Amino acid sequence: MSSKGRLSTREKLGKLHTGLTFDDVLLVPRYSRVRSRHDVNISTKLTPKITLNIPIISANMDTVTESEMAVALAREGGIGIIHRFMGLEAQVAQVQRVKRMESIIIESPYALGSNAKISDVRKMMREKNVGGILIIDDEGKLEGIVTTRDLRFVEYSNSSVTAVMTKRKDLVVGTWGKTTIDKAKKIMQDEKIEKLPLVDSRDKLKGLVTAKDILKRKEFPNATKDSKGRLRVGAAIGVRGDFLERAKKLVDSDVDVLVLDIAHGDSAYALEAIKRIKKALPEVELIAGNIATSEGAAHLIKSGADSIKVGVGSGSICITRIVTGSGVPQLTAISDCSLIAKDSGVTLIADGGIRNSGDITKSLVAGADSVMIGSLLAGTDESPGEIVFRGTQRYKVTRGMASMAARRDQLQREGRLVSESEVQNHEDGDLSDFVPEGVEAIVPYKGGAVFVIRQLAGGLRSGLSYCGASNLKELKSNGRFIKITDVGLIESKPHDVVTDL
Ligand code: XMP
Repeated sequence: MSSKGRLSTREKLGKLHTGLTFDDVLLVPRYSRVRSRHDVNISTKLTPKITLNIPIISANMDTVTESEMAVALAREGGIGIIHRFMGLEAQVAQVQRVKRMESIIIESPYALGSNAKISDVRKMMREKNVGGILIIDDEGKLEGIVTTRDLRFVEYSNSSVTAVMTKRKDLVVGTWGKTTIDKAKKIMQDEKIEKLPLVDSRDKLKGLVTAKDILKRKEFPNATKDSKGRLRVGAAIGVRGDFLERAKKLVDSDVDVLVLDIAHGDSAYALEAIKRIKKALPEVELIAGNIATSEGAAHLIKSGADSIKVGVGSGSICITRIVTGSGVPQLTAISDCSLIAKDSGVTLIADGGIRNSGDITKSLVAGADSVMIGSLLAGTDESPGEIVFRGTQRYKVTRGMASMAARRDQLQREGRLVSESEVQNHEDGDLSDFVPEGVEAIVPYKGGAVFVIRQLAGGLRSGLSYCGASNLKELKSNGRFIKITDVGLIESKPHDVVTDL
């Protein structure tokens, strides 16, 4: 120790402790009373106020989560976080798409005035991805409805919508505030109709019930829903620029949770942003991150975060640890942060590096309440982006949000990209001054996300059974790690056989 009390380099190296990650450990099998993996309960808290039926969140990456992924995951019992690499209006529209998808009673359904043309109706149906548009007069009174059936063989599009719509006098409607779901079901069955508009005592359009939404509720009994029966969804915001306005607009569009997304969450910028959001929007559920230490966890919690997100450099597309030399192996990071989170009553999300269901089970035993997944979901039909071919094999692109490609696209979208020849002196939109902390890559195409999600949830259920646990609380108290060697890891995987059939 120096006379000023600082550690010498040699002393610093002498005090090192080991950081562990998923492949460094296994869970020791324990006596189990569980008869079938279907008997275990894997529901958890996303934040203290939001329950998930499966502890899986899709990452706020532009190759992972927009509305399609968020819908697929919420139907299975998890939740998706819409990424922020788009304009404010576009992000709000993504959130609204999810919120409208399965709401049993749709408030303010899509409507057009009776002066609209058939082409306007078609456009709205396409843009909003709906099969029916209500027609209203200047005062908002119901005039009719047009559905895809009414337009099936209509070739002219310049004519008024009134030529094809079902008119008010022929419409069966319910009463806003009085027609319950059960009543609506009976009316739709008796009248053999698919859509039931709801009007008030002055015939003003107030809502809509659709048979499709009611049937979906049965199809997805595990879905993550809000108190109005709508699928839950989250959205990411940054810590600079319009972040507060974005937060307010997203909350106005009924987003369920916000994720404050910054690579180094234990920073003055992030803590200040948490305080400002919580002051402006005290009711909002706020997840903040990313951090990898107990100190970082304490800072986020003190600033007002409802949930902390753990993982620095753990993601499949991350190069933060290579570029900066910083990071903590993920299992140790989760374990260190969980001690602080548990005492404070906030929840913990393990973000990055999940490659299989075993990694999820290990994360939860180490202290996480849920996991965030990026690239594992990036190769699915519901992730944004096209399928690409390498030879005859199909793939989809995934990329770090701090990669050069993502940065270039972001600057281009905002009209801020400065080309190499125009660079004067380290300008804002100058890519030569940007240091990427992520890469662009491809992942094998996997088909529908539901299959991947169910494999992960199923594997986790079996994981609970091996730990003698019938729910996540028991998993946390029963789970025991054993550290393994490189040879142990080889034994854990298929070995001495040919698997490449
Ligand atoms: P997985 O392993 O599931 O990880 O693909 C997803 C998580 O990775 C983080 N992420 C990044 N980290 N540079 C990083 O260091 C990046 O460019 C980057 N992009 C995403 C993020 O936390 C995500 O949820």
